[in-house]
Amino acid sequence: MAVLPIIKLGHPLLRKAADPVPPEEILTEEFQRFVDDLIETMRAHDGLGLAANQVAVPRQVAVIESRANPRYPRAPEIPLQVFINPVFAFLSEEKVCGWEVCLSVDKLRGLVPRSARATVEAQDRRGKPFRIDASGFLAVVLQHELDHLQGKVFLDRMEDLTTLAHQKEFEEFWLQPQAMVG
Ligand code: NI
Repeated sequence: MAVLPIIKLGHPLLRKAADPVPPEEILTEEFQRFVDDLIETMRAHDGLGLAANQVAVPRQVAVIESRANPRYPRAPEIPLQVFINPVFAFLSEEKVCGWEVCLSVDKLRGLVPRSARATVEAQDRRGKPFRIDASGFLAVVLQHELDHLQGKVFLDRMEDLTTLAHQKEFEEFWLQPQAMVG
């Protein structure tokens, strides 16, 4: 497995919608190796999620996983899950607001409104369709990652850019218990 370089804000691939993965490609050795690399890269950066286009591979693939780590010692547990060609089947009108950061947006974090509940339909890494009903933290992580696959970053979802903060100023003026990264 390999840790892949993560592209940052300003790279055009981060702002383009990723292409669907054809079903016949999913079980190939090359694609399976890529999924492993994506997981390895997420873990190497203590991310809670990572989308394929963040490593300059414009494919509809995202991985999520959350466990306590040095960066987020109190992170909620989310088991490793691979999403291929994910789409939202439902997004609640009800919103929650939380602080988000992103491996492709260095140092900045901001307050982002997201749907409180979401349903995602996708294929797993074997190509098997599944559906997940998410709320709270998981729902937010999914929205952050699926946005990446459409070429969007959390900055696009912010309603109040005055909450954009660097780490030091965030800790000094804004600190709240939860923040997420994807
Ligand atoms: Ni992100």
